[in-house]
Amino acid sequence: MKSVCKIIILGSTGQLGTALKQVYQNNDRYISTFLNRRSVNLSRTESIHKLKDYDFDILINTAAYTAVDKAESQQRRCAKINALALEEIAAICQKKQALCVHFSTDYVYDNDLNRPLLETDPTTPKSTYGITKLLGEKLLRAICKKHFIIRTSWLYSRQGQNFVNTMIRLSKEKDEIRVVNDQIGSPTFVDDLALVTDKLISLYREGNQQSDLFGTYNFSNQGETTWYGLAKEVFRIKNIKTPLLPITTEDYPTPAKRPAYSVMDCTKIKAVTGMTIPDWQDGLRRCL
Ligand SMILES: NC(=O)c1ccc[n+]([C@@H]2O[C@H](COP(=O)([O-])OP(=O)(O)OC[C@H]3O[C@@H](n4cnc5c(N)ncnc54)[C@H](OP(=O)(O)O)[C@@H]3O)[C@@H](O)[C@H]2O)c1
Repeated sequence: MKSVCKIIILGSTGQLGTALKQVYQNNDRYISTFLNRRSVNLSRTESIHKLKDYDFDILINTAAYTAVDKAESQQRRCAKINALALEEIAAICQKKQALCVHFSTDYVYDNDLNRPLLETDPTTPKSTYGITKLLGEKLLRAICKKHFIIRTSWLYSRQGQNFVNTMIRLSKEKDEIRVVNDQIGSPTFVDDLALVTDKLISLYREGNQQSDLFGTYNFSNQGETTWYGLAKEVFRIKNIKTPLLPITTEDYPTPAKRPAYSVMDCTKIKAVTGMTIPDWQDGLRRCL
């Protein structure tokens, strides 16, 4: 591939989009274009087609409908952005022979296997968010040969709407906070996800384009915890004294059903990139 590569990033105002901006703006190996909802709106087909007018070698799609509970009452909208938009994006990338990098979620598994989940494990999502993300994956895989689909979990960053920032905000507003302690997963610092994404892209650019590099990868920070465990660690690092109470999923009903166990096995991405993935506590310390 050419030494300077043209890259487009969709969803540039989101958590991951912002982290990728740090990697690709002012980077002399890339000419980067960062697009937000105003330039390309994934809920409108004709807006997605504007991508045809851009000249690019790589497209990174971080844009998604991510409001997991709200999705249950906005199924069509969620499906348009997380699934049907991928049909259009994939076709445009395929036509341009561009690499399409896309992100998915641990919520696509939801298969009751109580062990770290492999990319090849069954996917039986129960929520609208999970179902639409899985459909988006399938459309991309079927239409665009050169793709990376990176499944990630429990994403947080310094800014943006995420569990970590919500806990810090609630600690200032409430006398005590009740947090679910029977859903197990792996929190992921968005900066670590951005780095591993860049590593996969570098491997692609180094000439691995014909190989079995393309495909689906799990990526999360290492280790596992519950939402309560994550909140406890946030409060310890920030020296927050507001009492935290562990509760069950039953005590805190939500519109969307979430998996009880969704820790992902990241052996594949570690082997391919040669990277060591930091523990979730390490990621959280760097974030805070
Ligand atoms: N957050 C998590 O815990 C989590 C967990 C697993 C996987 N993921 C996946 O990881 C990826 C990145 O997530 P994130 O946390 O960075 O998401 P995020 O912070 O919620 O950002 C989503 C981005 O998508 C944009 N967007 C939403 N609807 C759009 C539309 N109709 N047209 C164009 N852009 C639209 C948003 O734009 P506005 O700013 O204009 O709304 C925002 O920039 C997503 O694929 C997500 O599904 C996230």
